[in-house]
Amino acid sequence: MHVQLNCVIVDADEANRREMASFLSTFGLSIAAQLPNSDQLADLLNRSDAPQVVIVNLDPGAMDNLHKIGHLPRQFHNVSFFVLSQVLDPNLLMEAMHLGVKEFVPLPINEQKFTAALERLASVHGMGKRAKIINVIPTIGGCGATTIACNLAASLAQSRRTALLDMDLVRGGVGGYFDMKPRYTIADVMQSAERVDRQLLDNALAVHQRTNVAILARPDLLEDTQRVNQPGLVRLLNIISRMFDAVVIDSTMSVDPMYATTLQSADTNVIIMQLNVPSAKNAERFVATLRRMGVESSKIKIVVNRFVKKGWDIDPVEVERALGLKISWLIPNDFKTAIAAINYGEPFVISTPRAEISQCISEFGQMLMGKVVSQAA
Ligand SMILES: Nc1ncnc2c1ncn2[C@@H]1O[C@H](COP(=O)(O)OP(=O)(O)OP(=O)(O)O)[C@@H](O)[C@H]1O
Ligand SMILES: [Mg+2]
Repeated sequence: MHVQLNCVIVDADEANRREMASFLSTFGLSIAAQLPNSDQLADLLNRSDAPQVVIVNLDPGAMDNLHKIGHLPRQFHNVSFFVLSQVLDPNLLMEAMHLGVKEFVPLPINEQKFTAALERLASVHGMGKRAKIINVIPTIGGCGATTIACNLAASLAQSRRTALLDMDLVRGGVGGYFDMKPRYTIADVMQSAERVDRQLLDNALAVHQRTNVAILARPDLLEDTQRVNQPGLVRLLNIISRMFDAVVIDSTMSVDPMYATTLQSADTNVIIMQLNVPSAKNAERFVATLRRMGVESSKIKIVVNRFVKKGWDIDPVEVERALGLKISWLIPNDFKTAIAAINYGEPFVISTPRAEISQCISEFGQMLMGKVVSQAA
């Protein structure tokens, strides 16, 4: 079970309240109440299920409204109070500080600063983002992205809480690679309701017994893929990255808004290629796109799959020159192990941990989590 931050919004304007509620919910905060004034605040904070966060728009009549909140921030010192106002009068700021208000947010909101303040708040309540998000992207069909994503997740899950998201929404095969048919899918955690919370996600994630990987599968019905949307995905990543140590995404090569979200949120974008012309060309196109999107080179890792020491179509050195990036990892060609794992429905890092391909992916996982390991040449 995971903690959920509950929050109450006080704002005289209904439209403002709704807008704030929707913004906070993308952050994974749950909205316990929306009030037009602070009259009922004390009662609410005295309840056993009291919210941990109070957000008050002081306008109009900022000083009066601040005084109405009065002693509450000191009385409920475990509750974080945010006050918002267009009035930037030093007296108002001083008074707010004096009353024990944690954050004064000038209006109109600077989204970046407000997000940073919410991030601090989440950390204070032990809910900071902790997961490394690893986004696995294929450059051509069948290059091994799903195999690598599933085995990476299974390997990481041996020592860390790990989730695996199938973002190959139409053709994705993560469920099958674990021989699972989860009841809920990524489409079921997309509602824009304000109470999409950890509990719902907890229920939707199917935990694979043998590996402990928590799987969020792609929808079974193709029509349901249309329910997966960008705001929902932002919220999902925000919540899930506070619940796990590692989040692996089996993705696709796309920059539409949903995939742009995964690319920007990822700590590492792992680009899977093979040493052939179509794959290398796509890798080059995609890396160039990531650069234009402002994704730092340190967040891009090139992985060559099905590597053989002799007989490639393109020299790895040529690939590195074309991409302007080093190849981070070479995963050996081992069709027998790879296909047996798929047919059997169990990642090879578990069924045949000593195989070279298994050790290779496990070490890659360690590297992604920050351990200094490099691949033997
Ligand atoms: N290192 C490897 N050595 C040999 N075969 C591999 C390797 N990695 C993957 N394969 C095989 O390649 C095929 C495609 O793998 P996989 O489904 O993981 O690729 P993908 O990139 O996810 O494909 P898709 O385009 O369907 O999403 C499978 O039969 C798998 O067993
Ligand atoms: Mg795949």
